[in-house]
Amino acid sequence: MISAEKIPNNVNLSSNKRLQRALEHWQPKYIQWWRDMGPQGFQDYHQVYVRTAVSVDPDGWAHFEFVKLPEYRWGIFLADPVHDRRIGFGDFFGQPVWHEVPGEFRNQLRRLIVTQGDTEPASVEQQRWLGQRCPSLYDLRNLFQVNVEEGRHLWAMVYLLHSYFGRDGRDEAEELLERQSGNRDKPRILEAFNEPIDNWLDFFMFTMFTDRDGKSQLMSLSESSLDPLSRTTRFMLTEEAHHMFVGETGVARILERTCQLMKQAGYSEDVRKIGGIDIPTIQKHLNQWFSLSLDLHGGEVSSNAASYFANGLKGRAKEETFEDHIVKNAHYTMEFFEEGKPVAKEVLMRNAMNEVLRDWYVGDCAAGVTRWNKILERHGMSDRLRLPDRKFNRHIGMYSGFYFDPNGVPLAKEEFEKRKYEWLPSAADSEYLLSIMAQPVYEPGKFANYIAPPRRGINQLPIDFEYVRTES
Ligand SMILES: [Fe+2]
Ligand SMILES: [Fe+2]
Repeated sequence: MISAEKIPNNVNLSSNKRLQRALEHWQPKYIQWWRDMGPQGFQDYHQVYVRTAVSVDPDGWAHFEFVKLPEYRWGIFLADPVHDRRIGFGDFFGQPVWHEVPGEFRNQLRRLIVTQGDTEPASVEQQRWLGQRCPSLYDLRNLFQVNVEEGRHLWAMVYLLHSYFGRDGRDEAEELLERQSGNRDKPRILEAFNEPIDNWLDFFMFTMFTDRDGKSQLMSLSESSLDPLSRTTRFMLTEEAHHMFVGETGVARILERTCQLMKQAGYSEDVRKIGGIDIPTIQKHLNQWFSLSLDLHGGEVSSNAASYFANGLKGRAKEETFEDHIVKNAHYTMEFFEEGKPVAKEVLMRNAMNEVLRDWYVGDCAAGVTRWNKILERHGMSDRLRLPDRKFNRHIGMYSGFYFDPNGVPLAKEEFEKRKYEWLPSAADSEYLLSIMAQPVYEPGKFANYIAPPRRGINQLPIDFEYVRTES
């Protein structure tokens, strides 16, 4: 069980006074950030039914209660240590894992932790206005659950920075609260985390695709030789699963409702007339967030990725399922693009580690899209959603600077610019979505017209439970 201290934890924080003081010094700054940059309008007068971790065992972290958001018990939880854990890949394969940061990998590890840490508060900032446009109290609660857990993920990374990186780590922890999503002077580190998420279709696509990038990154970090990083990220993964559930079921419920409305409109595509979200608009948002999230995996050929792997800092998702954990001489066949034509070339596998992780990611996303298409099928619709080709709309890596349609067919820049809004959300699409979300739905059991109710409530409660209560 975790302790009832100021900062809930299972790392025996009170035995390390220096660390405890440092984190207690950071805590009020975090709360101030949460108030300024967290859910707008839901800080003081609302009680939210959320899950709070009270221990890391399976029943302990699924503990539900009503809390005011700024009073959520953010804390530090590491998954239990694995006895005699050994390094699972790279040049140090088979050696005991590290409990301290080796001096020679300090900068690389700090960079990995800061980059991961930066995404957590960024997403809370991106989503801070959504509560004002929510489709139901059930969805509002889910949004806040995701938000408080992203806040906790920031705590997880800040704990590592404070514990293992001395002065530099403390400075980085401060800066994590200073950068702001979309801020021109001090933006968040990665592009997808500077894009606004101001409507719920964006939110569901973000939690489906961008939180799933979080899953691939956390899976590869949970393989790390640095044991505290491995244990921290392993526990974060249990929370991350809920975020993707919110995204996948959110889009599924929109699709369900869109099908109902299409039938109502006599199988017409144009469900906007009756306040629904048409399938082409859903596809465009899928294209947008999938391609942005592909970018988050980094360049296809990367010496950084090779060195992270060689040094045992960042592995592959499910490393144990691979046969070769050293990967010294293996090659990966990659599709380069030269003079307007695809050319297959062999790359050293270690240099292709970003692409290896991206392959896992694309497969995981594709499975989700297949589940969505079952809904369309069940309603007898001929439309299907699909993942765009991975070259489409890329801003990082070897396809950036080139233009492709969603089938991966190369286009001239002018052609792409002309046709861009056939494939990506336009200002008019966003305006339409905002118009149907302008009135939030705060009545228990009621849902906005564009989305179907979920199949069941949270924690076995009814769908019309008052998941967010207003206190007068
Ligand atoms: Fe997260
Ligand atoms: Fe997440």
